[in-house]
Amino acid sequence: MKILIVSSSLNPDSKSRLLAQELEKQWKGADFEVTMLDLREANLPMCDGSAAYGDENAIRAKAMVEEADGIVFASPIYVYNVNAALKNFVELTGHSMKDKVAGFLCSAGGKLSYMSPMSFANSLMLDFRMFVLPRFVYVSAEDWNEDQLSEDIADRIGEFATNFADFAGRMTD
Ligand SMILES: Cc1cc2nc3c(=O)[nH]c(=O)nc-3n(C[C@H](O)[C@H](O)[C@H](O)COP(=O)(O)O)c2cc1C
Repeated sequence: MKILIVSSSLNPDSKSRLLAQELEKQWKGADFEVTMLDLREANLPMCDGSAAYGDENAIRAKAMVEEADGIVFASPIYVYNVNAALKNFVELTGHSMKDKVAGFLCSAGGKLSYMSPMSFANSLMLDFRMFVLPRFVYVSAEDWNEDQLSEDIADRIGEFATNFADFAGRMTD
């Protein structure tokens, strides 16, 4: 089984990237393959529904999606949704996500945006028939230990790591 973690924040001091890195760390030594794609380094074009699909970075990103059985999206919450970079990533590669498993690690400013990933999750389910793990990690500003990952966040990621691997494993068999 192969799992792709997509870290979508373009902020150099991203908190959702710390969530993605913690998940990757917790999966070290697992009996499945884990790959990280950081959109800060992916240099993707904006999707224009045309020439962008021929861009070499877009083709590379699409190949990474194709190889994966499950995809974890680590995203900031921007304006009650995932960020635009992640939406763009899906516009470029989404058709390769068909029937795969999806999960979310989100970093937000406040607790009130808790349902924000849902419209994106709906798109994944309706457009690409993805199977979305109904347990997200949602972290708000007050959960951090002065910008460091707290024990509580690490525990929540640990629970997610177990649930996602189990779910993706069952769907891949
Ligand atoms: C443009 C913008 C929009 C935001 N919108 C929301 C929002 O709707 N709800 C919320 O709780 N936080 C919002 N935030 C706060 C971010 O979600 C928070 O800073 C988060 O840690 C960003 O993730 P990152 O550190 O991985 O980039 C927003 C921040 C920015 C810059």
